[in-house]
Amino acid sequence: MSSKKVFVSNHPLIQHKLAILRDVNTGPKKFRALIRELSILLAYEATADLGLAPHSVQTPMGTADCARLTETIGLVPVLRAGLGMVEGIWEMMPGAEVWHIGLFRDERTLRPVQYYNKLPVAPTVQVCLILDPMLATGGTAVATVDILKRWGAQRIKYVGIIGAPEGIDRLHDAHPDVSIHLAAVDARLNDYGYIVPGLGDAGDRQFGTG
Ligand code: URA
Repeated sequence: MSSKKVFVSNHPLIQHKLAILRDVNTGPKKFRALIRELSILLAYEATADLGLAPHSVQTPMGTADCARLTETIGLVPVLRAGLGMVEGIWEMMPGAEVWHIGLFRDERTLRPVQYYNKLPVAPTVQVCLILDPMLATGGTAVATVDILKRWGAQRIKYVGIIGAPEGIDRLHDAHPDVSIHLAAVDARLNDYGYIVPGLGDAGDRQFGTG
């Protein structure tokens, strides 16, 4: 799958935390903490190719040859499940901008419909990280990338937690330039578009609304 720009982490910390996250007995407080921690770790891996420029720093002992990021970053959480992925990543990248996108699925057409988007006219960041824990059918992911590309985003990465093969294929086929970063790829979708075995509804489990 790596030829498809799909990166599934085998980092032990990520796999350990994912096991607790999936557990039906994990309550909302712990679930939110794990989403936060997993998001930091996955974003760390997803940003390994950010641009750097040389930068000299005066230390108390002399001059150090250092480097600084050259690209500006936008975090794009998809409402509502993506919200819990923002805070931890933002602490690691305090200069990032956060742009929320709200999409729901029209039950008649089964197509994603945008209900929240406050992106300004022109892009203000160079790299966008779409944050949405569950890459299920891929409909929302494709629609979010469509929105960001129409906005003019140049470089887009998808950071999720669990993906289904159907969603990964759909996102990759529609947008092969978008790298996909996940903690796991599960077996399949059920008839309601939920990932099996997955973790249930990531929004409900974060917000205690299940
Ligand atoms: N969204 C979720 O929250 N869970 C799934 O399994 C699929 C989509």
